[in-house]
Amino acid sequence: MSRFSSPQDPLFRAFNASVAYDYRLAPYDLEQSGAHARMLERAGVLSGEELAEIEHGLAAIRAEIDSDEFIVQPGDEDIHMAIERRLTELIGPVGGKLHTARSRNDQVATDMAMFVRAHSLSAAELAHELMATLLDIAERHSDWPMPGYTHLQRAQPVYLAHHLLAHFWRLRRDRARFAEVMAAASELPLGSGALAGVTFDTDREGMARDLAFARVAENSIDAVSNRDFVLDYLSAAATCATHLSQLGGEVVVWSSEEFGFCSLPDSFASGSSIMPQKKNPDAAELLRAKAPRIVGHLAALHGVLHGLPLAYNKDLQEDKEHLFDAVDTLELSLQAARALVRGLEFRRDRMAAAAADEFLGATDVADLLVRRGVPFREAHGIVGSLVRTAADSGRALSELDREEIARLAPQLGDAGLADAISGDGFIDSKVSRGGTALPRVREQLSEARQALSEAAP
Ligand code: ARG
Repeated sequence: MSRFSSPQDPLFRAFNASVAYDYRLAPYDLEQSGAHARMLERAGVLSGEELAEIEHGLAAIRAEIDSDEFIVQPGDEDIHMAIERRLTELIGPVGGKLHTARSRNDQVATDMAMFVRAHSLSAAELAHELMATLLDIAERHSDWPMPGYTHLQRAQPVYLAHHLLAHFWRLRRDRARFAEVMAAASELPLGSGALAGVTFDTDREGMARDLAFARVAENSIDAVSNRDFVLDYLSAAATCATHLSQLGGEVVVWSSEEFGFCSLPDSFASGSSIMPQKKNPDAAELLRAKAPRIVGHLAALHGVLHGLPLAYNKDLQEDKEHLFDAVDTLELSLQAARALVRGLEFRRDRMAAAAADEFLGATDVADLLVRRGVPFREAHGIVGSLVRTAADSGRALSELDREEIARLAPQLGDAGLADAISGDGFIDSKVSRGGTALPRVREQLSEARQALSEAAP
């Protein structure tokens, strides 16, 4: 007997079912079921013997899942029902006691929190590994000058290490964000029932300890409908993937013939089906293009949750594919980014030649005028006229003649211009904290080493 007089329409069944994708929650579902069963035994709902049977059945299902032998039946709507069905097949009607004092609503929220927690940890660890790789490369190229860019126009010279560390610090913030996601996912929904709590005095604190949650959720209505931690994961993942897209975008540009700043590892590039000379930066391009996909998942889940009345609504089932695809995309992207940058070979000559462009010292010339009492705005205009005169006649700043300099910038005196732009002067002049002068870069490298050794979340 049941509430229903006719079987489910196959089309409804297909539309309603989530087991094809929530299957991957199985390990978490089994773990929480164990904790729930132990709680039921402590509460006197299950006997010691019944608990042992249930634990035995759960372990058998775990083995079937691990060896890919678990068979989903057509009537299994989701992984929770599939596991309960299998448990009853294996151990008989006592399997049906497991659902006492639990609803799929608090059950699925708990699985999702456990999943998010596990994958926030993986993302943090993978970000950490990429940081370590970037730092190794930065250390090996600490004094390689290159142009720094704004608007992709040469701006001021920097050291390659300085540039690579910019990516390092972004990833460190990503790692910290994933640690916050873990904290957001550490309130236990289990024990909230369908929405209102349950009629048994369930030891929720005990279950929280058993499942390594920091605390229990305070409000059962909130607990079954809360997916903030999924939004938080997607948001952290979207930001992290956006960082990887920026890294990828740079590798695309840098590895081009036009820039020639680096060459790609053969193992991480592909050829063209028609042009034999091509070596394409596919991995870098894909890093660039994967990020909006994760951003899309974040936007989609905001859409799912928007205006949703409390508490559980089936809409919430639509959290999963967005999360799962984001997890798979991000974890693969972080690993690919690491393999890609590890194999890059930088070309010192090409970078140094581009960095030696004297126009990159224009700010330093203006700063010299400032030191001689010229207001910065005025100095900016004076140096601008020097640059224009040189550029218009196809010359470098050092090729301007004495008369031209005396006419346009008398404050510079005889040797001023040459001093400001000679040698590596205009790269090592950036002595401010966080700047590109070599001692500052070395300081930053050791800060980065320190940051990396701090316990990952
Ligand atoms: N598959 C469902 C989900 O992912 C599980 C919860 C179902 N609860 C319910 N009341 N229908 O959200």
